[in-house]
Amino acid sequence: MLDVNKVRKDFPMLDGKTMSGHPLVYLDNSATTFKPYAVIDAINDFYHNYTSNIHRGEYELSQKADTAYDSVRKIVGDFINCDEKEVVFTAGATNGLNIIAYSYGLANLKAGDEILITLAEHASNVLPWFDVARRTGAVIRYIDLDEEGRLLPENLEKAMNDKVKIVAFAAVTNVLGYIADVKKLCRIAHEHGAITVVDAAQSAAHIPTDVRDWDCDFMAFSSHKMCGPSGVGVLYGKKALLDAMTPFTFGGGSNARFEKDGTVILKDTPEKFESGTPDMEGVIGLGAAVKYISRIGMENIVEHERQLRKYFMEKLASYDNVEVYNPHGDTGIIAFNVKDIFAQDAASYIGSQGIAVRSGNHCAKLLHNVIGVTETIRASFYFYNTFEDADRLLEALKTCTIENCIGIFF
Ligand code: ALA
Repeated sequence: MLDVNKVRKDFPMLDGKTMSGHPLVYLDNSATTFKPYAVIDAINDFYHNYTSNIHRGEYELSQKADTAYDSVRKIVGDFINCDEKEVVFTAGATNGLNIIAYSYGLANLKAGDEILITLAEHASNVLPWFDVARRTGAVIRYIDLDEEGRLLPENLEKAMNDKVKIVAFAAVTNVLGYIADVKKLCRIAHEHGAITVVDAAQSAAHIPTDVRDWDCDFMAFSSHKMCGPSGVGVLYGKKALLDAMTPFTFGGGSNARFEKDGTVILKDTPEKFESGTPDMEGVIGLGAAVKYISRIGMENIVEHERQLRKYFMEKLASYDNVEVYNPHGDTGIIAFNVKDIFAQDAASYIGSQGIAVRSGNHCAKLLHNVIGVTETIRASFYFYNTFEDADRLLEALKTCTIENCIGIFF
């Protein structure tokens, strides 16, 4: 059982900060999360006590940095249930998805092959595939979503044929927050000989991840959405697939040797994908974040978000000025609009009441084909949010009128 008041003491951003003259309520956790002292201290420790480059120094300081950085592969491997050699450090989920598209997709797709995605994907799981399709002559197709915008295994089954080579989808979608049945989806894709790419940007911090049980081929997530630093993330790939891939960035650290005739011998997986001095403090901070949320417990996180959503939705039921687009969502993400008010205007008013939410299309620019609107407000809860935070949003929605929205600009 989660003790939220105790947990909140771990976060300097939750120590009584204000915004627009009100106590701050942060409900934009799907965009990024607050960082606990454990993460800040780990990064500070690197800066204060053992700053040095990794894998390049024969001196004690550098070896300490090597150990701190290298140990994070096992921490992450244990967290997502894979071998540490299958953990590639990246600049974030977007970078990970691009590595898959360019290093795997470009090399393996040919004209007429099909890539299946959905209309609920974030730009990072759409645009790399559009580009790879253009370059290879492969075709993008969309798996039908149900009337609520969910990806159901039976619709993947209907969309599959032997031309499909890649099936790419989010484990949790970033606007509607639905949890996909990743294991079943992967099984169906594999039965037809396709490989699977899981965008875990919105899932890794919110639901348990088990890549072996899912049996996905690739998966990518970001550190900053799980209490870690930004600019760093993880690409998971099955070892045999990663071994067979050629990276699309080259430089120091990823090669064993090269000769003037152009011969290049790359290091093994995963180092061959990590050219250049990596984000050392970022990776060390990611390790601290993974340890921190593992201590909180993924099951506790799931349950707390479920309770917050239930509480919020039950109270919201009596509001006739709010339209919710994911009333049966699975996570702490609620996508809605205040009737007759442009999403950004309503979000500005909500912000003026001290509450941070995101508004707009949330980079999921194909989703309007499913929910019928291009702009929504997104409130996203995390394990450090309270029922009082939900009440504050409910209070702001009560007073979110056209007059009050206009009023904040004058
Ligand atoms: N990808 C992040 C979001 O959905 C930024 O808000």
